[in-house]
Amino acid sequence: MPLKISARTTQPLDLNADVVVMGTFSLPSAKDGKGGKKKKDGDARTGVPFVDALDRALGGGVSRLLAKEEFTGKKDQTLSVPTLGRLPAAKLVLLGLGDRDKAGPGEVRSFAAKAARIANAEKAKTLVLALPDGLESRLRLVGEGLELGAYRFTKYLTGDRKPKESLEEVTVASERRMPPDAKRSIALGQGIAAGVNVSRDLSNEPPNVMFPAALAEAAQKAGKEHKFKVTVFDDKEIEKRGMFLLHAVGRGSSHPPRLVHMSYVPSKKSKKRYVFLGKGITFDTGGISIKPAQGMGEMKHDMSGAANMVGLMIACAALKPNIEVHAIMSCAENMPDGNSYRPGDVWGSLDGKSVEIINTDAEGRLVLADALAYAAKELEPDLMVDNATLTGACVVALGTMYSAFYATNEDTAQRFGAAVKASGEMMWRMPLVDEYREQLKSDVADVKHTGERYAGSITAALFLREFIGKTKNWVHADIAGAAQTERPYAWHGKGATGHAVLTFLALVERAGK
Ligand code: BES
Ligand code: MN
Ligand code: ZN
Repeated sequence: MPLKISARTTQPLDLNADVVVMGTFSLPSAKDGKGGKKKKDGDARTGVPFVDALDRALGGGVSRLLAKEEFTGKKDQTLSVPTLGRLPAAKLVLLGLGDRDKAGPGEVRSFAAKAARIANAEKAKTLVLALPDGLESRLRLVGEGLELGAYRFTKYLTGDRKPKESLEEVTVASERRMPPDAKRSIALGQGIAAGVNVSRDLSNEPPNVMFPAALAEAAQKAGKEHKFKVTVFDDKEIEKRGMFLLHAVGRGSSHPPRLVHMSYVPSKKSKKRYVFLGKGITFDTGGISIKPAQGMGEMKHDMSGAANMVGLMIACAALKPNIEVHAIMSCAENMPDGNSYRPGDVWGSLDGKSVEIINTDAEGRLVLADALAYAAKELEPDLMVDNATLTGACVVALGTMYSAFYATNEDTAQRFGAAVKASGEMMWRMPLVDEYREQLKSDVADVKHTGERYAGSITAALFLREFIGKTKNWVHADIAGAAQTERPYAWHGKGATGHAVLTFLALVERAGK
């Protein structure tokens, strides 16, 4: 259920709710009087109108509290202010946004998300979110942040473990005039966030539930609800079409593979066609090259790239961009079995190249290779973007908050980089080092599918590049680290993040303008 969010031009202190969160940019220094007025006892002196109004309402208690608690409005800093019956709201929290001139889209979205997380932590059903001035023009981000921050995956909790209350209603308040399209902006933000939250849901589902056919069904369900087209290829169709790599990876599982093709066509005729693709390994044991037991359960998230495709399509349905968008999921479960593919195998591919299998744990690039070849041939995209939890090497390089992206040319890299900036997500460009292509030379086949130990994320990208056919503009995103998180940050709680959906959407939005 989406949150009920309304926007009001009013003095936030007059409003009542289970929790009131007041946002504030970095405060002008109260101590040395630099930004504010000269210090006089009992005088409001932060120079921030609503913090001063709060100070007056509470009889001058706030400025002293600010000084004592050293609350300065730094990003993510919070200060709980006791209202002692002087205000309608029982619980009031000041929440820092950091410097005003550094507040990009990520900061604004994180601020709203944090407010929603505070509300849920307080078991609040209703929240007043007071915006510092300036934010009334960024209500889409506020809508996104509230839905993304309120997200929790509680489906399998029962009894006491099930949260009794969760946030239902939010009043976004500002003393400044709310823009005429306030309602629409918030609703759009919520619609986009709903897409990201579906990505998170699909990725958080346990692997006994979320197998390839289930993922395909989830796409079909979303397609019905949000009116986009969904085509599913089953095991037989995959083999018949010559997607032998995807088929090989799926061989060891009792849950057969699926290729899912979703598409959105705008009402106006469009000139551009963007194609997105995602790795959908619903569980990655490593196969015959089996992984160690430690942390293997995390590999339920190995379909996050595919899950992002469903989320992106839902977000597109909300945004209605003016370009054609296709999203493809290549789904299989990587299991050890008597029928599994093995190291030493040689398999054909849809592109036509033969591939020598080195390590069955490098399965993601195989399922993507056939999907890329399919997209390149059937759709001739202006831009093709894949995303995958592809390599541990990428996590070593960039950690768990940044993902890597690779691009075939400078223009495409710049366009993608601009979308990253617009979304506020953290992605870093890495090089397609042609010199490392040698590592993929095979004695028995056209290519082998893994390189040496070092530069593992780059050689994986180079392998994928072999399958993009005539496509000129291609981006590969390795989201292995950022697809999931062990602790909450920015607009993410624990678990799947839906990382990259917002960048892809920004890319689509900018192309449609
Ligand atoms: N799904 C993994 C990559 C991964 C690792 C994702 C850690 C998230 C966190 C992928 O299929 C894999 O196992 N890659 C191997 C490739 C290697 C065998 C060349 C890896 O990175 O070790
Ligand atoms: Mn693997
Ligand atoms: Zn994998």
